[in-house]
Order: sequence, then structure tokens, then C-alpha cells
Amino acid sequence: MPTRQCYNRAVETATLPFPPLQLRQMVGPIVEDSYYDNPDGSYIWGPLDIPPLKAGEAYRRVFDFGCGCGREERRLLLQKDRPEKIVGLDINPEMIDWCQNNLAAPGVSFFHHDVWNVNYAPKNSKNRVLPIRHIGSDFTLIEANSVFTHLHEDQSKFYLDQMRSMLAPTGIIRATWFLFNKKAFPMMGDNLNTIFINEADPSNAVYYDWKAFVTMVHKLGYRIVHINWAQMLGFHNIICLGRSDNFLDISNMTPPGTSVLGY
Ligand SMILES: C[S@@+](CC[C@H](N)C(=O)[O-])C[C@H]1O[C@@H](n2cnc3c(N)ncnc32)[C@H](O)[C@@H]1O
Repeated sequence: MPTRQCYNRAVETATLPFPPLQLRQMVGPIVEDSYYDNPDGSYIWGPLDIPPLKAGEAYRRVFDFGCGCGREERRLLLQKDRPEKIVGLDINPEMIDWCQNNLAAPGVSFFHHDVWNVNYAPKNSKNRVLPIRHIGSDFTLIEANSVFTHLHEDQSKFYLDQMRSMLAPTGIIRATWFLFNKKAFPMMGDNLNTIFINEADPSNAVYYDWKAFVTMVHKLGYRIVHINWAQMLGFHNIICLGRSDNFLDISNMTPPGTSVLGY
């Protein structure tokens, strides 16, 4: 079985440990405790009251795709309104082991995903993708912070396709994306939609052409229901997707901001 479930262990939120520095450094440049904390117990991504969702409703059952060393799980566990179910999945075995040993609790579980990546999972089997549907269904929120920013177009399509059946009827996917306008690269034909920054590890950062991104998610049966354009030029854009007809698709209403390369 390529994906293994780890077993739950009770944990007191009052003494929730912080991941070790070495693991924090693996997932990004911000390693301060405050980035891993939620001292006032607030909804960590805001109320997510995207009509028809009411404030807080999205936080009931959360699947964190690419959970790393459990930064978001730790913060979710500290929310006043704590999710009833949290599932984290990652390709890095050391980080999943740490999460299991330190954050697992009733309703909180972690899975190792045996997909290869030169940086995050060089010892995994050489799988490019593997199914994740069996991890669960009826999730009200699927989170993927800084994960699709490392996946190639075929991998993103695969996982977004899997996630559609994992969502509750009015569930949403909240994920970050690097975007650009391929008009700036006239040699890119119809089937070329991504650019990379690192020849040795193309998954270091993958940028998606905005219009191709919209076409991709529409073809996969999603609506674009909320967008936070990047705060800094070329940085993360936060995009929420939903599959319910009750959501308004806003892809034509909010043109990319000037923080998106080429706009
Ligand atoms: C930049 S880190 C972000 C970690 C976490 N989401 C956070 O915000 O702290 C990217 C994470 O994605 C994971 N990852 C990369 N490819 C993946 C894949 N195909 N499936 C699941 N996780 C993946 C990496 O192992 C790494 O932990």
C-alpha cells in the first residue's frame, strides 16, 4: 500500500509542541514561532464566509494537502472553534512522523504519500502522482498552502481531479498558486502553460498562466469562488475553488492585479 495511515495519539492543546527548527527550515524561510502559532484562537484563514458559506462553516472537516511539519494543524488545533476532523498528508516521511508523534489526536490523523520529489522526498518511490481519494470524503475545506506552487501541470490536474470527489457539496479548496501572463512569452504555444525557475529542480517554483489556469479548473468542474491576489510581485496568490452551483464564479470579475507577472 503506497500510502500508509499513521495511528492517532492523544495530545493536549495546552502543550502542543512546535516543530523542530530543522523541519521548519525545510518548508520555508519563515521559521519564527509566531508563524506556527494561533494565540488568540481565531480562524486561521479568516471566516471564509464565501456565499453560501457562513462564517466558520468551512472549518468543520479539513484536509491539508502537503501539510509539511504540521504548521496549519498546530494552528487549527488552537482555534476556539476547533475542526471536528483534520487530515494531513505529505510526501516527506520525517515530517509526517513528527506530526504523528506530536499532533495526532482523536479526529486528527496524518498520512505519508509515497510520491517522489528531489528536494522533499528523494528516498520515496519514483511515483509522479498517486491517488488520494481513499484518504476521505465530505471535507468542508481542502487546504494546500505552497504545494501546487511546486507541482507540474499534469500533477496539479491529477490532484484537483481527485479532490473534487473528496469535497463536501459546498466544500472549498483553498490553495496558493504562482501565476503569470504568457503573453510575455510569445514562444509559448497553446499547450505550454507553465514556467520554471530552476533547471536542477523544476518543482522549486512552478508558475501557471492565469488564463490557462482558469480553463484548467473550469474543465475539472470547479468554480473560482474567491481570490486574494499576491501581496508582492510574483508571490503567492490564494485562490478558492468550489464545485457547487451555489457559488458564484468570479474568474471574469476580478482581473489579475499588478502583482501577477505580466499584468
Ligand atoms: C513549502 S512546503 C509547505 C508546507 C505547509 N503546507 C505549510 O504551509 O507549512 C511544501 C510541502 O508540500 C509537500 N509536497 C510536495 N509535493 C507534494 C505532493 N505531490 N503531495 C503532497 N505533498 C507534497 C512537501 O513535502 C512540503 O512539505
